[in-house]
Amino acid sequence: MSTRFIAMEGLDGSGGTTQIAMLKAAFEARGEPVIVTREPSDRPVGALIRDHLRRSWQDVLGDGVFPYLFAADRRDHLDCVVLPALARGENVLSDRYALSSFAYQAEAHGLDRVMRLNQDFPAPDLTIMLDLAPAMCLDRILARGSPRDRFEALDQLNTIAAGYEAAIRAVSWPIVRIDANGTPAQIAAAIAALVWPNG
Ligand code: TMP
Repeated sequence: MSTRFIAMEGLDGSGGTTQIAMLKAAFEARGEPVIVTREPSDRPVGALIRDHLRRSWQDVLGDGVFPYLFAADRRDHLDCVVLPALARGENVLSDRYALSSFAYQAEAHGLDRVMRLNQDFPAPDLTIMLDLAPAMCLDRILARGSPRDRFEALDQLNTIAAGYEAAIRAVSWPIVRIDANGTPAQIAAAIAALVWPNG
């Protein structure tokens, strides 16, 4: 089978990082070469973004710069990680990709504008959207010990969930939604059935 570029998407707390690790293990069990990567990436622009996310979006950089930073990180991530791995014959699993920008940056910056900024980037062969209600995502985020105000956080998650809905309608890439309300093993089985439909 030819190599594939698969992106995992969903709200914070929807379980994407766990599922990426389980999907990687499934590729390895089948002897199919695979790498796991993520956005924001672990490269310099991604590190800058993560640094600002950790500081709760302090006013060190103006808010207007973020859609550009995510797009710059994506260009760098594609050129230096994703495309070379595909060229080497490795499958690439990315924890978030451009759909995250469409969902997270659209409210502040406009979906059309964010989509324009990302128009040169290739569509993944498959985008897996983990569907979980914002309130359930919030329970998981809070269980990790995140000291966030519940109402404010729920409000944000609802906004991003609406952003994902609009983005999924606007994008013509193959996107498959998976019900993420289950055990990690159940969700991993649903994802495996999608990735290897012939077993
Ligand atoms: P995560 O590594 O826990 O998923 O955190 C990354 C955060 O960055 C997450 O809240 C989603 C956000 N994000 C955007 O706002 N835009 C983007 O384009 C990407 C890739 C992530």
